[in-house]
Amino acid sequence: MGEPETSTATVLILDFGAQYSQLIARRVRESNVYSEIVPHDTPWEELEARKPAAVILTGGPESTLAADAPGVDPRLYTSGIPLLGICYGLQLIARDLGGELVRSANREFGPATLEIVREDPLFAGVPQQSRAWMSHGDTVLAPPSGFAVLARTQQCEIAAIGARQRRIYGVQFHTEVVHTEAGKRVIANFLHDVAEIPPSWRLGSFVDRSVAEIREEVGDGRVICALSGGVDSAVAATLVSRAVGDQLSCIFVDTGLLRKDEAATVVATFRDVLHLRIVPVDARERFLARLSGIVDPEEKRIAIGHEFIAVFEEEAARLPDVGFLVQGTLYPDVIESKTPASKAGHKIKSHHNVGGLPERMSLRLIEPLRALFKDEVRKLGHVLGLPHAVVERQPFPGPGLAVRVLGDVTAERLETLRAADAIVTTEIEAAELDPRPWQYFAVLTPLQSVGVMGDGRTYANLVAVRAITSEDGMTADWARLPASLLERISTRIVNEVPGINRVAYDITSKPPATVEWE
Ligand code: XMP
Repeated sequence: MGEPETSTATVLILDFGAQYSQLIARRVRESNVYSEIVPHDTPWEELEARKPAAVILTGGPESTLAADAPGVDPRLYTSGIPLLGICYGLQLIARDLGGELVRSANREFGPATLEIVREDPLFAGVPQQSRAWMSHGDTVLAPPSGFAVLARTQQCEIAAIGARQRRIYGVQFHTEVVHTEAGKRVIANFLHDVAEIPPSWRLGSFVDRSVAEIREEVGDGRVICALSGGVDSAVAATLVSRAVGDQLSCIFVDTGLLRKDEAATVVATFRDVLHLRIVPVDARERFLARLSGIVDPEEKRIAIGHEFIAVFEEEAARLPDVGFLVQGTLYPDVIESKTPASKAGHKIKSHHNVGGLPERMSLRLIEPLRALFKDEVRKLGHVLGLPHAVVERQPFPGPGLAVRVLGDVTAERLETLRAADAIVTTEIEAAELDPRPWQYFAVLTPLQSVGVMGDGRTYANLVAVRAITSEDGMTADWARLPASLLERISTRIVNEVPGINRVAYDITSKPPATVEWE
């Protein structure tokens, strides 16, 4: 586990709806200081009660000059808490403390040369000139009294201001994006030099802190979680079990829609290696019966989601006095669920989760990962000692293989897909590609075509192979797999999997296609 924590300092990031708020949180954690994002309208009493070691105000889509512009409680400015405003945050500070602002005639977007005009600890170690990323409409014309102008760009005379004694700073450029050369340094300077927070936070400290918090919240209550085999639920469950041990029961539902050997591996790993209390539920027949006759992709997803919740509820009801439900919600999920329906776009697919359960079962939610990103969760998984296969497992859809068996979902067709999929997975992993595709799998289509095997005619199914590169699954490109690898995959599938006589490789990006075929 990481080095011991010498400080429990938390930096609170007041989110004004910036595109990059999560990146700010990340940069702060990369400076070895713990941070959390909170909504900008969090009441002052709540903020103060958390005793933040510093506060950062993010950018945002609004103009501070608009009548209903979101703001901060003025007590923040007199509290003595070190404060850094970024973009909209800077403009708020300037507006609230008596500076002068204007809606610019020429909005500034993209790279600019940042020039330091006055020495200050905020810019310690930053070259006189560096590239910075700008994106703003409003501009500060004059700083509030007591504030010095620290930096400029060609188009923006006031790109950074500071009141050193009061420990209040504002920058117009985006410190959090990689294109801003001095970004990391400015954030680190603010945290370590201005706010005097030691760089002592490690992911290991996150474990200690979470375990203590969960223990406090749960007391001697009983906790359940749904284990899927995925990294998020695994890390969340492991953290909770560190805190409350056997008070946690992990329900693992075998839907029969998992990959080859997956159900057995998940149960063995979590029970025998991680020593979690597992409640395995064999619901294979039940899911098959529920899916019988359904061929429409959306109907399949909805049926599986409902069935999953029904099984989970029944199993949970067998456990006495359950009060809490653990979920592996990540920061991007938190943000997505906050997005107003009008902005969320059209629904493409119904993703399945156990979202409605806490209210229905009157359970309290424990979401220990809600401040983290996927790659941070993976690191945390390693810190917690989870097996590599669990931590680095590729994403897998909630409805499982049902959305990769196009058309009717039957036990036989699932078996065919599992065999083909195992070949795809084994061959791609054995090829040790660098980088390895983000996700790779087989899809069983209902399409039949003519072939010849030995001296006989065949009329059998087509399997599609899908391998993609992606950062986050939101957009994707098809992976340029070596021809020799594709050849091995194709030959093996046709030779080894009964009922398949043709293999196609999916060369569509997302958009316009999606990653999964259904
Ligand atoms: P799509 O097909 O929407 O997939 O382009 C994007 C990513 O999400 C995964 N996926 C799901 N994940 N529940 C999940 O947790 C689901 O219902 C689901 N459907 C798709 C997909 O595998 C890809 O990584």
